[in-house]
Amino acid sequence: MLFLSREQILSFFTVRDAIEADKRAFVLHTEGKAKVPLRINLETEDKSGQCMFMPAYVGGELNMAGVKMVSFFPGNAQKEIPVVPATVALIDGTTGLVTAIVEGTTLTQLRTAAISGAATELLSNPDSRVAAIFGTGGQAPAQLEALMTVRSLREVRVFDVDPARIQNFVAKYQPLADRFGTALVGAKTPDEAVEGADVITTVTTSGKPVFDGSRIKPGCHVNGVGSYTPVMRELPLELLNRAGRIFVDNREAVLAEAGDFLIPMGEGRFSPDRIAGELGDLILGRVPGRTSPEEITVMKTVGFATLDVVAAAAIVEKARGLGIGSEIAL
Ligand SMILES: NC(=O)c1ccc[n+]([C@@H]2O[C@H](COP(=O)([O-])OP(=O)(O)OC[C@H]3O[C@@H](n4cnc5c(N)ncnc54)[C@H](O)[C@@H]3O)[C@@H](O)[C@H]2O)c1
Repeated sequence: MLFLSREQILSFFTVRDAIEADKRAFVLHTEGKAKVPLRINLETEDKSGQCMFMPAYVGGELNMAGVKMVSFFPGNAQKEIPVVPATVALIDGTTGLVTAIVEGTTLTQLRTAAISGAATELLSNPDSRVAAIFGTGGQAPAQLEALMTVRSLREVRVFDVDPARIQNFVAKYQPLADRFGTALVGAKTPDEAVEGADVITTVTTSGKPVFDGSRIKPGCHVNGVGSYTPVMRELPLELLNRAGRIFVDNREAVLAEAGDFLIPMGEGRFSPDRIAGELGDLILGRVPGRTSPEEITVMKTVGFATLDVVAAAAIVEKARGLGIGSEIAL
């Protein structure tokens, strides 16, 4: 069994690798080759934490199962240990043996950023130069790197409801942006962030739309990453109304979990018929993507375990090829 730590994963697995793994996962999902039961959520007796289990089996050429064990223990912040620790176990589909244990927080950051990376690569205008990111939390650095990986960005505006976090983020990640020739700019308001932006990624914990949909320019592509419950919402209805093409990672999951769609649907102001398809449909050529440079495009993701299993398999395959990781017999 191969064990891979955060440092090991980051030493060889790139955002580009993650984007290719996600594209493969989207295709396997849309082709119906993955089984993804509902997440299991167990709360501790004293209600101080939750342990969640996200299983998936992915057939096709992969033939692997896996489970992401991800917990939420808010009190960990005081102990200076991760609040949302995650680990992924991979299981061989021919023997049932657990073949690898992969550090899951890094894997989640990479595979989630790669969702936006893949969507931006497939849907945004190729000459996009200015992007905006809403949210500066745990997912944001990899999201930034994914945008800079797929488009030659001159500038990325950064906005958060906490101004101190904006300044910290810009200072900490400008060296990363320098590698791509990109300037990070703290935005004072949501309007300042989206004005003239070609690409926008929202990766917040917000319960209400994070920018004004009337302010985004024609041709903009928007990735909605943060909301994953019916009461969370980042994308304004006006954006959805103005969008020519709306894509999702997993139609069933998004229509069960994403407040961005569920809240306006409950008010009778948005129809799921507006969803053009899953990203897998686009990659498979089953539906068209952007139809003009002026068209506004949207990608909404809530994430699902197929992405974790396929990303873990790609990480393990590359690690074995490079001889990285610790082999341990149980
Ligand atoms: N789609 C997926 O597959 C996927 C995967 C992982 C995480 N997520 C979700 O992404 C979200 C962000 O994750 P994280 O780990 O970075 O969270 P985090 O708690 O570390 O950071 C969230 C950030 O959002 C900021 N914020 C809140 N409301 C805002 C607003 N209106 N405008 C601008 N900034 C705002 C907060 O100040 C904070 O800096 C979470 O909801 C998480 O569940 C989605």
